[in-house]
Amino acid sequence: MAKNSMNEIVALCKRRGFIFQSSEIYGGINACYDMGPLGVELKKNIKDLWWKHMVQMRPDVEGLDAAILMHPRVWEASGHLEHFSDPMVECKDCHHRFREDNLKKDKCPDCGGELTDPRNFNLMFKTHMGPVEEGATEIYLRPETAQGIYVNYENVRVPARQKLPFGIGQIGKAFRNEITPGNFIFRTREFEQMEMQFFIHEEEEDKWFEYWMDYRINWHKNVIGISSDKLHVVEHPPNKLAHYARRAVDIEYDFPFGQSELEGIHNRGHYDLTRHAEFSGKNLEYFDQAKDEKYIPNIIETSGGIDRTLLALLTDGYEIEEDEQGKERTVLKLHPRIAPVKAGVFPLVKRDGMDELGEKIAADLRKKFNIFYDAGGSIGRRYRRGDEAGFPFAITVDGDSLQDNSVTIRERDTMQQKRVPIDMIEKMIEEFTEGYQRDKGLLSGD
Ligand code: GAP
Repeated sequence: MAKNSMNEIVALCKRRGFIFQSSEIYGGINACYDMGPLGVELKKNIKDLWWKHMVQMRPDVEGLDAAILMHPRVWEASGHLEHFSDPMVECKDCHHRFREDNLKKDKCPDCGGELTDPRNFNLMFKTHMGPVEEGATEIYLRPETAQGIYVNYENVRVPARQKLPFGIGQIGKAFRNEITPGNFIFRTREFEQMEMQFFIHEEEEDKWFEYWMDYRINWHKNVIGISSDKLHVVEHPPNKLAHYARRAVDIEYDFPFGQSELEGIHNRGHYDLTRHAEFSGKNLEYFDQAKDEKYIPNIIETSGGIDRTLLALLTDGYEIEEDEQGKERTVLKLHPRIAPVKAGVFPLVKRDGMDELGEKIAADLRKKFNIFYDAGGSIGRRYRRGDEAGFPFAITVDGDSLQDNSVTIRERDTMQQKRVPIDMIEKMIEEFTEGYQRDKGLLSGD
């Protein structure tokens, strides 16, 4: 069935406890969101799979967790103070503000009023460090995690005994005072990035750019399970490149509001380390002993947004179909590897020992998986709620379970049911996860 609009996805996120407007009981604060119980699990799964494939499985990549607050000189060296701004215009009548480069007409899109001339608006959030605002140092909330990696390049490389080429990966919050945030969690003012900076010799820039681009596309498709036909690779024209970039490619996804960026792959040249060497006075040259050559490394960057990846997964999995009774069901077909809850455990009724057995099964499975236990209400309604929240399985404990030590497992995508011995549930979830193909059930195969 056809995909639905953002409004339905936003409503589902609130209803099932994925995402809430920040400070909602006070009327909300614009472009900031809170992750509820399912959102935080989904986000954690994205981050864990990124970390595993980008850091832990790679002998040539090290991990880092740098502070959000950094020395103000960092942002001079990086070019953010000078360049990290958007042209902003304001309506002279309603005083709404817009990014000039996003406007189709030269009149206010909200009231048709006259607009001011554009002025550059820096997107970094400012704050003060120290107890007295006046005398205190003005500092910034980082607008990208990347700079924490560059300033720690030598700190990481030396103890990790890495030779070039090698990379540093980091996951963390970033903040941008966007002029026109929007599309739910797509463009917010506080968000999380997963970035990896790969330090190389200039001669190898094309090879490594292609390598990381393919690696990242493969991760989106085959590790977290985003549909291949909705992912696109878009090259930035040279006149649209950021101040540091020599080449940039976006990995884009077909969101309900149009094809938009999920992640960027950038060739940053030797801009970053050259600038930090210049501003800090430290020597950041690499000495290649084998070649007897000294040089400032070039950097290939992979820079993704966790919130955007989460939104792509929700959009990608969202389907409206018919259930077993021919009624409408909403289902989130998330890859079981990424699903926030792996299974719901549901005693058919809350008596005759079914609830005790259900609780025991849930407790055993919780040692390995995130499990949701619910003993109340109609089983059909419990299935529906699990479908909406993307649980790959519903495990039902019935009267026979106490005799035959088996349960009925219902698979989310196909709604097929099968009797499975209790001691086989864990293995079945693991095998299903590894062999998962959307809309194809393992349960139906044998
Ligand atoms: N270090 C390079 C860098 O930050 P970017 O293209 O500005 O590059 C990288 O950002 C990624 O961060 C984007 O592809 C997007 O996923 C995410 N991102 C950027 N701004 C965002 C915002 N306002 N809200 C949510 N995610 C954002």
